[in-house]
Amino acid sequence: MLWIMNLSGLLSAAMVTVVLSPSLQSFPPPRPSAPPTSAGSPPEPPPSARPRRSPTPTNAAPAARRLRPSLVHIAITLDRDYLRGSVAAVHSVLQHSLCPESVFFHFLVLETDLEAVVRSAFRSLRFKVYSFDPDRVRGLISSSVRQALEQPLNYARNYLADILEPCVRRVIYLDSDLVVVDDVAKLWRTNLGSRTVGAPEYCRANFTKYFTERFWSDRRLAGTFAGRRPCYFNTGVMVVDLDRWRRFGFTRRIERWMEVQKAAEGGRIYELGSLPPFLLVFAGHVAPIDHRWNQHGLGGDNVRGSCRDLHPGPVSLLHWSGSGKPWARLDSDRPCPLDHLWAPYDLYGPSL
Ligand SMILES: *[C@@H]1O[C@H](CO)[C@@H](O)[C@H](O)[C@H]1NC(C)=O
Repeated sequence: MLWIMNLSGLLSAAMVTVVLSPSLQSFPPPRPSAPPTSAGSPPEPPPSARPRRSPTPTNAAPAARRLRPSLVHIAITLDRDYLRGSVAAVHSVLQHSLCPESVFFHFLVLETDLEAVVRSAFRSLRFKVYSFDPDRVRGLISSSVRQALEQPLNYARNYLADILEPCVRRVIYLDSDLVVVDDVAKLWRTNLGSRTVGAPEYCRANFTKYFTERFWSDRRLAGTFAGRRPCYFNTGVMVVDLDRWRRFGFTRRIERWMEVQKAAEGGRIYELGSLPPFLLVFAGHVAPIDHRWNQHGLGGDNVRGSCRDLHPGPVSLLHWSGSGKPWARLDSDRPCPLDHLWAPYDLYGPSL
């Protein structure tokens, strides 16, 4: 019953958003956006590949576009396959933010021409685009259970501390298959204490299954969790203290586990993609964040066509982790009930 109440709350929140949208459109027209900073702007994508423009004004005055640590910094990847999801995620953050002008987006890309998509979807958005060099992880990625997990950009989250400007001291990392339905500044203000990474923890999940028997039977490997109470956490929503990350060299520690996986003679030590190295380094040392900030698993399983319900409790972020994605199911006219909560943020679909 609880989840039904939550769901109806959410639905009405979604409807409020929809009702509010026209009034947002009647705001005074925004200033023209500042000229691109780089010489020679990338070519515009063909109109068919372009999202509609978000009606949400962001009010970023050109003088205020500089990076400041006091802004809310959000890192998210942009690639062709998940572009629609990333654009919806950004749109959702802006729609629910009390101060959208204080949010700064850091986009990690393999193809820089996606910058034009961001410019056409969001007027005067504060953002910076970073090229992620796939060679950085090319030799480190091992095959996984799902091909999507092997994409180099999936590993960009390992390198945020190196890629983002040093003056950015904290960042929220968000996956591309989610929407935020609350003020992201609340997540930003999470107290990490002495921890480097904050995320919702799931201590009732069976932690054993994230690693192979080969891992658990090797005392030296399994010993990495000695003295910890490791719990599963999802790496699609994380608050990261970049200062601490840089100071303790966590990028290298994650890479070392990827090397172990590659080199393991007796077979691989885990099956999934970028997640297990994070568990190896951080599980048991994570600052716990309220579960409302990652209602995950909504992707369910596309093969079996299963739809997932929300976990009990309030919701601030909906995450379609798993192999099914809401845009694909909506397009094929076989959506799961919760996919309708994603649709209002879709700038590629029909205008509501
Ligand atoms: C946890 O997962 C492991 C490996 O898949 C399995 O052997 C074990 O029985 C599971 N434990 C529980 C309590 O379900």
